[in-house]
Amino acid sequence: MRTEQAKTIYLKDYQAPDYLIDETTLTFELHEDHTLVHAQLVMRRNPEKGAGLPGAGLPPLVLDGQELELLAVSLDDRELAPGDYQLDDSHLTLQPTAAQFTVDSTVRIHPESNTALEGLYKSGSMFCTQCEAEGFRKITYYLDRPDVMSKFTTTVSAEQHHYPVLLSNGNPVASGSEEGGRHWATWEDPFKKPAYLFALVAGDLWCVEDSFTTMSGRNVALRIYVEPENIDKCQHAMDSLKKSMRWDEEAYGREYDLDIFMIVAVNDFNMGAMENKGLNIFNSSAVLARAETATDAAHQRVEAIVAHEYFHNWSGNRVTCRDWFQLSLKEGFTVFRDAGFSSDMNSATVKRIEDVAFLRTHQFAEDSGPMAHSVRPDSFIEISNFYTLTVYEKGSEVVGMIRTLLGAEGFRKGSDLYFERHDGQAVTCDDFVKAMEDANGVDLTQFKRWYSQSGTPRLEVSEAYDAAAQRYTLTFRQSCPPTPGQPTKEPFVIPVALGLLDAQGNDLPLRLDGEAAGASSRVLSVTEAEQSFSFVGVAAKPLPSLLRGFSAPVKLSFPYDRDQLMFLMQHDSDGFNRWEAGQQLSVQVLQELIGQHQRGEALVLDPRLLHALRSLIEDESLDQAMVAEMLSLPGAAYLSELSEVADIDAIHAAREFARAQIGEALFAPLWRRYQANREVSRHSPYVAEESHFARRALQNIALSYLMLGNDPEVLAACVDQFDNSDNMTERLTALAVLVNSPFEAERGRALQMFAEHFKDNPLVMDQWFSVQAASYLPGGLERVKELMKHPAFTLKNPNKVRALIGAFAGQNLVNFHAVDGSGYRFLADQIIALNALNPQIAARQLSPLTRWRKYDAARQALMKAELERILVSGELSSDVYEVVSKSLA
Ligand code: TRP
Ligand code: ZN
Repeated sequence: MRTEQAKTIYLKDYQAPDYLIDETTLTFELHEDHTLVHAQLVMRRNPEKGAGLPGAGLPPLVLDGQELELLAVSLDDRELAPGDYQLDDSHLTLQPTAAQFTVDSTVRIHPESNTALEGLYKSGSMFCTQCEAEGFRKITYYLDRPDVMSKFTTTVSAEQHHYPVLLSNGNPVASGSEEGGRHWATWEDPFKKPAYLFALVAGDLWCVEDSFTTMSGRNVALRIYVEPENIDKCQHAMDSLKKSMRWDEEAYGREYDLDIFMIVAVNDFNMGAMENKGLNIFNSSAVLARAETATDAAHQRVEAIVAHEYFHNWSGNRVTCRDWFQLSLKEGFTVFRDAGFSSDMNSATVKRIEDVAFLRTHQFAEDSGPMAHSVRPDSFIEISNFYTLTVYEKGSEVVGMIRTLLGAEGFRKGSDLYFERHDGQAVTCDDFVKAMEDANGVDLTQFKRWYSQSGTPRLEVSEAYDAAAQRYTLTFRQSCPPTPGQPTKEPFVIPVALGLLDAQGNDLPLRLDGEAAGASSRVLSVTEAEQSFSFVGVAAKPLPSLLRGFSAPVKLSFPYDRDQLMFLMQHDSDGFNRWEAGQQLSVQVLQELIGQHQRGEALVLDPRLLHALRSLIEDESLDQAMVAEMLSLPGAAYLSELSEVADIDAIHAAREFARAQIGEALFAPLWRRYQANREVSRHSPYVAEESHFARRALQNIALSYLMLGNDPEVLAACVDQFDNSDNMTERLTALAVLVNSPFEAERGRALQMFAEHFKDNPLVMDQWFSVQAASYLPGGLERVKELMKHPAFTLKNPNKVRALIGAFAGQNLVNFHAVDGSGYRFLADQIIALNALNPQIAARQLSPLTRWRKYDAARQALMKAELERILVSGELSSDVYEVVSKSLA
């Protein structure tokens, strides 16, 4: 799209479609230098829009279509001449003459040169599709909007030798050979669906097959298709799929509906995966996993994404979105569902810690930046830019708050009603909330501000204790900073889960003034700008544990001192809040160091942090995964988010100083635990399960601290872990630690051996690129530029772009923010190149530059200048144009 065509679409302008498409029959003729697509659309006037007068009273039919070469079009079998229709860049307009009619069209498209990876494209030697959100219009002329749902029948024909496997949605119904070495297959999807859920795959693929018996006793064939060399990396995804199918039956009462469920892994993919009906298409990084090539984190990511896409079959496909402003209806809910699944499969507390750390670092930054938008945005230029942390992660938090307010049972009643009431429909976030209200007899009107107001609310909490009256009062003050287009906000409904600890660290029974005595942990609903809650019968001043489990996506502040935080770290009955207390303690200590660095003073670490961490490491009764989480200092990106002006150099210096001090002061217990765990790892085969993840997590974080001391014995252990482990979790940590160490010889040797060993595995090479791109040693940009010349790198593959360019700009903060602006210039150059190849990826890589207001004046000027340079660099995609222009506004 040309810059000048960029047009804003508003939610308030939503109109139901004038016409519906009852049946869609597609035929694809795939060739090496073009593809022919024939579409037959059985259409009728939308009855909601009135019958319409016959003849001239019918509105024109405006079909979406982009980058299509129209070869023929007919209306009810009458071939149309050019004067009978209008054609522009993005529409084909016809005039129907009856309320029911059939449109036939034939177009030529070019998947072989489609680098945007949207519509029909080639990934390596295979054909595949990506239609969400508005990619179907690059395949054929259509009403490409989610509220138009149709029954699809698809025939694919291709050369048989190179494309033995031909897939589409639903069930295979016929197949055959043609002369000239070609063959064909027809698929029929019995469920009506919007075009964004259409999929087609053709390639030389192998498949792993299994089956699942649903709760009502139906047998479902499960197939995971991959390129032959990856056939040994599918078992974990298959296990995850079966667990997901069972879990959705048990947790939500949702059963799978077709007789076959397929997953296809492709190497070139813009996102993680896509929930096409019966035919999920996945980024290979979200399917393939085995011990030797994928880390524990990668195994957990595969499990979560397989579950996420599977769960979409109900939350997304059976009940879909009316329009793209409602995206969080399916994405927020489905992220919430996959988080529930992951919590049940692994450690719930660790999962919550990871999710909250991610949300606070990245979504909070989005919410305070120029692209801030509400969970249900009111406008967009390019919908692809709204597959965001706000729509996904904050959207999931919003669903989670509904569950917290209604309780588990009430929430399940609400979700049952939602699925039952809206099965087969395209609906809105309001419909979702209405089902929750109706099933529970509650009013969530005020709560719905979470869908319409952007920005992260602040919640300031203060306390007062009246000893004589034995009364303890908490006062909550909420506010929300202005965000683009929203200068002022109304109060939110903020569920605050909390407990009160006595001097021994036990939870007190909670009794609100005017209520009977209750449980020891409860949820207060803060609904006003300022609101107080008094607890009675409180014999001594307690210590509050607030926002347990992070019960709302807010920035809570309470004036804890460091001793109180250490007390909570030890005693809070809520595991999440024990971690949170540790984080707050670390933040306070690090902020003190940042201040010292800025004033040019000597850095002095508060020894209380060391004491607190020492007791965690020495306590072998604690969950090792929790100890590992608590040993991880808040990241530089999170510390930046917390700063008024992010001083990257000071943040880096403070963190590295603290890490070195911890490594030195706690050397003995870290070394003891490292060796004990490494010994177990050495003698037990790799298992992708919670207790094994935990052992390796503690082992690996211990190694990263120990290596800061430049001790030869530790170096030998690290090299041994690199050389002699059977799994990528241990090997990659050893590599990462070496890459950031001063041991040049060992670093070079490890990098070279790794690349030699894994040169034919692109996903492992991504890790190799990332580890180097993220290294904070000086000279980062030169290393990245050098790596871009590596034969395994290409700008055309999104995983490679993310692994190298994304890791550099997003994780290597010291190097990216070099004062000479070289990091910014480099990123802008890549974005200009990507804009022409793959607009979605180009726009996503922009986000570090959009945060320019966070930095000092000199860096601000440099970052802005690069954004301005991109803006005038030539023909911009709507994707890049929207992000650049909004971040400069
Ligand atoms: N619906 C996909 C998901 O599960 C998101 C997605 C996959 C997507 N590929 C995309 C969105 C391409 C936009 C463009 O979350
Ligand atoms: Zn999704």
